[in-house]
Amino acid sequence: MLDGHEMLSALNRRKPAHALERDLYCDPGVFQLDMENLWYREWLFAIPACEIPKTGNFVTLQVGAYPVVITRGSDKQLRAFHNVCRHRGQRLCSKLVGSTPKLVCPYHQWTYEHDGRLLFARDMGPDFDPSKYSLKPIALREVNGMVFICLNETPPDFDTVAGKLTEYVAPSGLADAKVAFSSTIVENGNWKLVFENNRECYHCGGAHPSLCRTYSDNPNMTAMEGPDSASPDILEHWHRCEAAGLPSRFVNDPGFQWRLARIPLLNNAESYTMSTKAAVKKRMGAMPFNDAGALLFYHYPNTWNHFLGDHAIVFRIVPLSPTTTEVTTKWLVHKDAVEGVDYDLTDLTTVWLNTNDEDRLVVEENQKGILSPAYEPGPYSKLQEEGVIQFIDWYANTMTDRLTPRTAMAAE
Ligand code: FES
Ligand SMILES: [Fe+2]
Repeated sequence: MLDGHEMLSALNRRKPAHALERDLYCDPGVFQLDMENLWYREWLFAIPACEIPKTGNFVTLQVGAYPVVITRGSDKQLRAFHNVCRHRGQRLCSKLVGSTPKLVCPYHQWTYEHDGRLLFARDMGPDFDPSKYSLKPIALREVNGMVFICLNETPPDFDTVAGKLTEYVAPSGLADAKVAFSSTIVENGNWKLVFENNRECYHCGGAHPSLCRTYSDNPNMTAMEGPDSASPDILEHWHRCEAAGLPSRFVNDPGFQWRLARIPLLNNAESYTMSTKAAVKKRMGAMPFNDAGALLFYHYPNTWNHFLGDHAIVFRIVPLSPTTTEVTTKWLVHKDAVEGVDYDLTDLTTVWLNTNDEDRLVVEENQKGILSPAYEPGPYSKLQEEGVIQFIDWYANTMTDRLTPRTAMAAE
């Protein structure tokens, strides 16, 4: 089990544009260091806000050691709390999604308001001061219908990404959406393998027959600087979208932690369906046409998303162990769209249910190979895997910075 010093050495000896060495994909010490230095410090996508539209609605999630509850109060505000009772530490809410007038601990019924205040604690004596036992808050930001949380008490800046996300996602109408379908799978692979797989389409032709009906595996399409500006097709698509009020040009975080990009689908496809036509009759928000392509948004370490004319698909990953990762996918449609009338659930979900399962398989086989003592990190394709190179650079640079002792840095 690697300690911080050993992990730092492993990062320092990595070859540029190569996969990481084996321990970085499976060692329990590395997993713990990843959790402490990234997952407990960065902003994480939690849920689409439309999942809990009413006062009293709540969702729970687990991020590493931390149980979290997100609730909507009577003032309509969303708040996140540590899902831990302030009496003897019972997990307060155990259901994944629910609705309750107050948050009542199942153990001894301490009762909390949705803003975290302790309202009631039986027989605690005259000296007991309930105001000292509010639920512990967690930082939360709602950005255009997407809810992010940060477990760190001093979260990193989120204003820049939030500003751009607001601008780009506003037409997609997430505030007026509903969750049509949700899927959670567990992939037997390290979380970094899950994200590496997401950041390239080198594998798409071989792995994703359903997705490749509509999604281009041309690496230039999603390269960091965006599609080749000389391509008249793409420029025309951007001009058409921007004239209709859809911000389209690529926006990259300078450190590559996030990116927004609107790309056309193949052959004017409208949606990720087997027929290539829209899955939902009612369009999202202010989307002006169905063939606006896909607005792609990723943010490390835990989310990638596709916003289309007729629906949106949001993805959240959470590491469960060194070699298991939970992947949750939610399909969002206009809140007034009616299943069976405006959309068929199978039509809506088939392509990405297939794609997720195909990705699960390649990630699991990747992990199995990496566990072999014979595994040796190989080179990434600069043409096809620029996104992976950039993800691994972001990861390695961030971890190196956080694992480097401050005194050593000051002495340099
Ligand atoms: S642990 Fe919650 S009321 Fe006792
Ligand atoms: Fe894939």
